[in-house]
Amino acid sequence: MGDARLLRTAKPVTEFDTDALHLLVLDMLDTMRAADGAGLAAPQIGVDLQLVVFGSGERIARYPDAPPVPRTILLNPVITPLAEPGAESGFLEIEDWEGCLSVPGLRAVVPRFARIRYTGSDPYGDPIDRTVDGFHARVVQHECDHLIGMLYPMRVRDFKRFGFTDVLFPGLDASHDE
Ligand code: NI
Repeated sequence: MGDARLLRTAKPVTEFDTDALHLLVLDMLDTMRAADGAGLAAPQIGVDLQLVVFGSGERIARYPDAPPVPRTILLNPVITPLAEPGAESGFLEIEDWEGCLSVPGLRAVVPRFARIRYTGSDPYGDPIDRTVDGFHARVVQHECDHLIGMLYPMRVRDFKRFGFTDVLFPGLDASHDE
């Protein structure tokens, strides 16, 4: 946080299935794994492209009821908030704790849309189109925020629920930051 490259609006990916793109994706997946993160966006490693990776395919301890988020490589994403099924109108927001590999050692409660549709493509240019909720929806919104220069502290409304991870959650390891 503080690096100007995190504040840019990232450029769309225009060439798919290239060696350079596949190498970049491998680098991002390695970086995410090494940091034990829930996701990673290209601007976080200084690359000005609309590319995010997220999901481990495994359950997250903080969200024991949430189905695992599949490992996903998403290019040029577009997010559409959705109303809850059966809701008359309006989009439900839910609050939960987030961290970020670019904001180490801190956590805050961040409001996110509960349910979204996201579209984009994979590194081969094949379309991705999913409707998701819960933790999956939160991770996608967090990662895609990195592509428009938004870090989660910019979304915080209640700074009483913003602090150091080891103070807020003594004994918790710092894994699964987004
Ligand atoms: Ni992040």
